Amino acid sequence: MATLQAVTGMNDLLPGDGQGARWQRLETTFRESCRRYGFAEVRTPLCEYVELFQRGVGETTDIVEKEMYTFEDRGGRRLALRPEGTASAVRAALEHSVLAREPVTRWFYVGPMYRAERPAKGRYREFFQVGVEVYGDGSPAVDAEVIDLAASFFRDLGLTQFKVRLNSIGGPETRARYRDALVAHFAPHRDSLSPESQARLERNPLRILDSKDPRDHGPREGAPSILDALTDDDRAHFERVQAFLTALGVPFVVDPTLVRGLDYYTRTVFEVVDTSGALGAQDTLCGGGRYDQLFTELGSAAPVPAFGFGAGIERLLLSAPAVDAAKPFRVAVVAAAKADESATLAGVLCLARELRAAGIETLVDTRFASMKSQMRRANDLAATVVLVLGGNEIASGMVSMKIMATGEQRSVARAALRDELAQVQRAATTTGAP
Ligand code: HAM
Repeated sequence: MATLQAVTGMNDLLPGDGQGARWQRLETTFRESCRRYGFAEVRTPLCEYVELFQRGVGETTDIVEKEMYTFEDRGGRRLALRPEGTASAVRAALEHSVLAREPVTRWFYVGPMYRAERPAKGRYREFFQVGVEVYGDGSPAVDAEVIDLAASFFRDLGLTQFKVRLNSIGGPETRARYRDALVAHFAPHRDSLSPESQARLERNPLRILDSKDPRDHGPREGAPSILDALTDDDRAHFERVQAFLTALGVPFVVDPTLVRGLDYYTRTVFEVVDTSGALGAQDTLCGGGRYDQLFTELGSAAPVPAFGFGAGIERLLLSAPAVDAAKPFRVAVVAAAKADESATLAGVLCLARELRAAGIETLVDTRFASMKSQMRRANDLAATVVLVLGGNEIASGMVSMKIMATGEQRSVARAALRDELAQVQRAATTTGAP
């Protein structure tokens, strides 16, 4: 029978190749960054009603038009695997009236997202994001503070080669003005645009600016800049964001072509791109911005200003330097007994449990084959110390201890074992061996 494979674009993470430890470190670093900036974790379901993303992310976005995993459940409800976290978090905040209790809410999340994109290095169909969202604060200081959080998180991960791209796409008034200017610009080029952009020309011409279709690149040249269309209020907001970022020492470049691929943004948008070259074409580590209209789009009676970002874990790991994990301190307990000597084997299990209760990683080859094969297994599993226990040791309250790096072997009283192990561990961490 043919063996089965994982779904295209979805990855297994196997223990043993060091990747698990790198993911854990990344998540720990992110959680620590969030704690310092006063964010708390929210968890929402992996799937939502399709309508949430249609209304939230936008009908004319790539995500909604062609990338969502949608299906009907047994009750005939139309569901989607979440393609991103922002719409779900706003849905949860509204559903649980969170703003009534917490007028300025700061949430973070970590989890898988699903988009049926063409798989490539750094672009997957199941990928993981870390993200943060702030609700209830429309001030430009929040924009700068959250961008600062992203940059400081990346630095804590050891990233040095990245760049913050910043733009403002204004509020509804700016967008209406800009829309007219864009339609006027693209209309004479209508026939040379991709069919998708022709269809979007009247409905959402901003999308033509982030189209990946090469047919749209020529007509895009000479398109008006959104910065020229900003209202006075939008311009003042944008200038203050830049001033705060400068005061915080976060370098950025203003890029008027940055529009982002989701419809909910207003005013500030930003991306952090990798400049090390490690990611090839998929070099956007993180994207986000302000979305002051999304709460009302999703049914809120009162408008709620909001700002956030999402960053792809796989991409961050491709970009972050590989830090070697410290070698773990690991003990193996070996039975000097035959497989039917239950009392001794039970003694081995009890000793292992005692050490585990003391926080020590302890391994037992419970197949209990010959002592030689148990020793070989301990060696293969890179045990730092092997303890041998037989009937005689149990009777005398002793255990035989072998330090694998040096081959040194001695008999230790059970009562002194924990201290002896602590000494070996200290020596291992200070000398780098065993
Ligand atoms: P996004 O730009 O669609 O924004 O995604 C954010 C990040 O997720 C990207 O910069 C990238 O690192 C990662 N990413 C996206 N698609 C893939 C993929 N197919 N494979 C691997 N990584 C990927 C959002 O999702 C917004 N919800 C961000 C946000 C939060 N805006 C405000 N709050």
